[in-house]
Amino acid sequence: MTDRMTNRITIRRPDDWHVHLRDGAMLSAVIGHTAAQFGRAIIMPNLVPPVVTTADALAYRARIQEALPAGSDFTPLMTLYMTNGTNADDVVRGFEEGIIAGVKLYPQHATTNSNFGVSQMETIHPVLAAMERAGVPLLMHGEVTDPAVDIFDREAVFVEGVLDPLAKRFPGLKITLEHVTSAEGVGYVESARAGIGATITPHHLMFNRNAIFQGGIRPHYYCLPIAKREHHRQALRRAATSGNPRFFLGTDTAPHTRSAKEAACGCAGLFVAPVALPTYAQVFEEEGALDRFEAFASLNGARHYGLAPNAGTVTLVKQPRFVAEDVAVVGGEAVHVYRGGEEVGWTIEP
Ligand code: NCD
Ligand code: ZN
Repeated sequence: MTDRMTNRITIRRPDDWHVHLRDGAMLSAVIGHTAAQFGRAIIMPNLVPPVVTTADALAYRARIQEALPAGSDFTPLMTLYMTNGTNADDVVRGFEEGIIAGVKLYPQHATTNSNFGVSQMETIHPVLAAMERAGVPLLMHGEVTDPAVDIFDREAVFVEGVLDPLAKRFPGLKITLEHVTSAEGVGYVESARAGIGATITPHHLMFNRNAIFQGGIRPHYYCLPIAKREHHRQALRRAATSGNPRFFLGTDTAPHTRSAKEAACGCAGLFVAPVALPTYAQVFEEEGALDRFEAFASLNGARHYGLAPNAGTVTLVKQPRFVAEDVAVVGGEAVHVYRGGEEVGWTIEP
């Protein structure tokens, strides 16, 4: 039963199509939270320095596997970070050998660790053509970086000025608009050509931009793309719960230490992994759409990436659970958990 009054819901084991696992002590501190909930995850390549070659991806994958808690059943799906110098042969070979699942495009300076990003789209046209031929997905951080464009408009301007021309120039290229946050982005994906999908984060479904300024400046609500006005959040909730297969789960869990966020120039990114699945379940329940939760969490993304859904299931029960405020990182630092210090209404059955 998955109607509005349901207190328990069983779905296929879900996947997270957008995760920042970081490296070193931070990787060890956060990975268990993702591995406990998801069968697979697309691992973002924005390390310092970034994951740019198949060899880098193989090495990073080995570090992730090393850091996994014993007994985890979790497959990291690796991505490469597109640069002006990305080698098309390496990309295609890495994809065909099953080492990478896609390539991530960050417009230069768009977000955390994106200074290696692409400055001129024309530079990468040969790589995109090779990806189109070989069926390699392109994952896009969908914001322009022109400082003259208002931060709340950067996604809409990107969709019209960068994504749409690129989708037309490479009509067979599989594209994911990562962490869509605006009504314009949702509208574009809904009416786009085949092969274009979008991930939606739990936090963009939960709060609008007011949260960032509630009684003062709140660094733990600051992420990129930045949360927007309420009508955009409503568009995201409609899209996520609509059953439209183009929209799927991608948490954009992006841990930073407290000291990196609670600063005069705080980092963008929310650590949402510990509450990810329960938060999505809450949104689907609030929208009366629990019957569509499995498609969003466990089926649509796999189909977009050309993979079979996971075997196995996960059961969530409507049972409040207190969320710890912080996760400790070896070395003494702590990461604030999104919704930490609150009760969350759904719990994953062990
Ligand atoms: C991400 C990070 O910290 O790596 N930050 C964020 O606000 N989401 C980068 C990103 O996905 O934009
Ligand atoms: Zn991200």
